Amino acid sequence: MTVPGAADYRHFIGLGDAGGDDIAAMINDAIDRKAARVGKSKGMPDADAPLAGKVLALVFEKSSTRTRVSFDIAMRQLGGSVLLLDSASSQLGRGESIADTARVLSRMVDGIMLRTDDHAKMTEMARHATVPVINGLTDLSHPCQIVADLLTVIENGKALPGLEVAWFGDGNNVLHSILEAAGLMKFNVRVAVPAGYEPDRTFIDLARAGGAVVTMTHDAAEAARGADVIVTDTWVSMGQAHADEKLAAMASYQVNAGLMALAKPDAVFLHCLPAHVGEEVTEEVFEGPQSAVFDEAENRIHAQKSVLLWGFGLLGN
Ligand code: CP
Ligand code: NVA
Repeated sequence: MTVPGAADYRHFIGLGDAGGDDIAAMINDAIDRKAARVGKSKGMPDADAPLAGKVLALVFEKSSTRTRVSFDIAMRQLGGSVLLLDSASSQLGRGESIADTARVLSRMVDGIMLRTDDHAKMTEMARHATVPVINGLTDLSHPCQIVADLLTVIENGKALPGLEVAWFGDGNNVLHSILEAAGLMKFNVRVAVPAGYEPDRTFIDLARAGGAVVTMTHDAAEAARGADVIVTDTWVSMGQAHADEKLAAMASYQVNAGLMALAKPDAVFLHCLPAHVGEEVTEEVFEGPQSAVFDEAENRIHAQKSVLLWGFGLLGN
């Protein structure tokens, strides 16, 4: 479980901040803590309550259900508490700078989780904060989601090295973090997206530099064949306009029974949610026996507890 570490705080802006060994430590700790909670009410603290007395500010400039609730419950289970800020009801919405917000919050709370649009706001918050800052999603990346996804994959009996993960649809923030994870945890990614919707080249290069095989294709069937994990996300992310042209381009990348049949028989279907059933995934797959989407959603709690412990220097190297 949690090991004593340096007392210094650490920011979790991308998976690379932690590195492969510490991500593995996070997943192991999440598995242990999850097992130790069987039969406990969700709000009851873990026996060791390692973050007793700590307060985490949850700052939202975009909507959220899972990230908001899972960070709140994660902090309760670790013995701490949260307070919630959104741009509409805080001075952020009236133009107070990220730098000043970071410095004020650092005097008042022990950690900051931020969900925002422009990734530069996240790095600005981290630059000026003197408490751990955790990336709860930007337009560029969603690292907390991927810790939960890897935990879900491992719970399904799969080892990460050499795993074949196939992504369908939009080359977005979630895919970027999957690619970052691939280089760190040594799994391979097949990316099936329409022309013009490719992920940021930086993340492909990062994955390849870490030793992952990244296959870029416009052929969904090619990506699905023999895959261990099939994953997709909404075709229209928060802050993006609904464009008929984009939806039309995405149509042949829908995850449906035909596509699942090409993957390994024990392949797992993942989706970070919220889903648009009937668009990026059919109801048959979403509700089907290979879908692990609600385990994946629950695992946001368990994974984030590990991220928080890592941020407070209580887990990892
Ligand atoms: N998957 C995810 O981050 O969900 P929310 O947008 O509801 O937080
Ligand atoms: N790509 C999605 C993820 C939501 C959790 C978005 O950014 O809206």
